[in-house]
Amino acid sequence: MTDSKQALIIGASRGIGLGVVEVLAKRGWQVTATARGAVPAKGPTSVEWVTLDINKQEDRKAVKDALSARRFDLVFVNAGVFGPDHQDLHQASDEEMLQLFLTNTISPVRTAAEFLPLLNHRTGVLALMTSELSSLNENDVATYPLYSASKAALNMLSRGLQDATEKQEVTLLSVHPGWVKTDMGGENATLTVEESATGIVDRFDAFRSKGGHHFVDYSGRILRW
Ligand SMILES: NC(=O)c1ccc[n+]([C@@H]2O[C@H](COP(=O)([O-])OP(=O)(O)OC[C@H]3O[C@@H](n4cnc5c(N)ncnc54)[C@H](OP(=O)(O)O)[C@@H]3O)[C@@H](O)[C@H]2O)c1
Repeated sequence: MTDSKQALIIGASRGIGLGVVEVLAKRGWQVTATARGAVPAKGPTSVEWVTLDINKQEDRKAVKDALSARRFDLVFVNAGVFGPDHQDLHQASDEEMLQLFLTNTISPVRTAAEFLPLLNHRTGVLALMTSELSSLNENDVATYPLYSASKAALNMLSRGLQDATEKQEVTLLSVHPGWVKTDMGGENATLTVEESATGIVDRFDAFRSKGGHHFVDYSGRILRW
């Protein structure tokens, strides 16, 4: 038995997800992390890794069944993709659009809903990784429209979880990580993974027990929907 706080980080093989795992582990959390392929070679040794492709219902069920006796202080659905580089609806195939919305919109919310019962009542935090680009207010020129639309729809389906999160008295967060140097964010991004991940973990601490649904960035700025 341990008194450490328990986190489940979904989509943690690299980038910001792995960064969040590293920050939590450094702060003494007991972390269970998921990867759909190989486990990262340099992750903290204390982390328990499980295999999960969020788009596979059978994977989600197997992981949930394996963890069903556990209770977590944090479940963070971080997995996401950018979609086609050209970001042009007229060039994109239906299959590309369906994959983008499956991975960024439908599967994250299904995953969040399915793992919600594993959160501790009152102090638990259910977080989904979105982007400020999802917001009609913050992104009024529709930069990266396909990616941004998938995250906008994610926000609305996340709002649809609010009844369930209120019933369980947990806090629901839609998180923007800033613009981060990862495979997705690219080299010109303004933040390192460590800077973004540290801010995100600080937000998890700051919002614990607050209840409600909040759209917040890594630095604590509240974003307009
Ligand atoms: N970087 C930025 O500036 C930025 C800005 C705003 C929002 N975000 C969001 O932040 C999150 C992390 O982005 P990142 O920059 O760290 O990107 P990244 O380096 O490309 O990492 C994406 C992560 O998502 C995982 N993933 C993708 N599809 C998955 C699936 N079907 N099942 C399970 N895991 C899956 C990847 O796993 P594999 O290794 O198996 O592919 C990887 O671990 C994403 O939701 C992204 O949209 C990023």
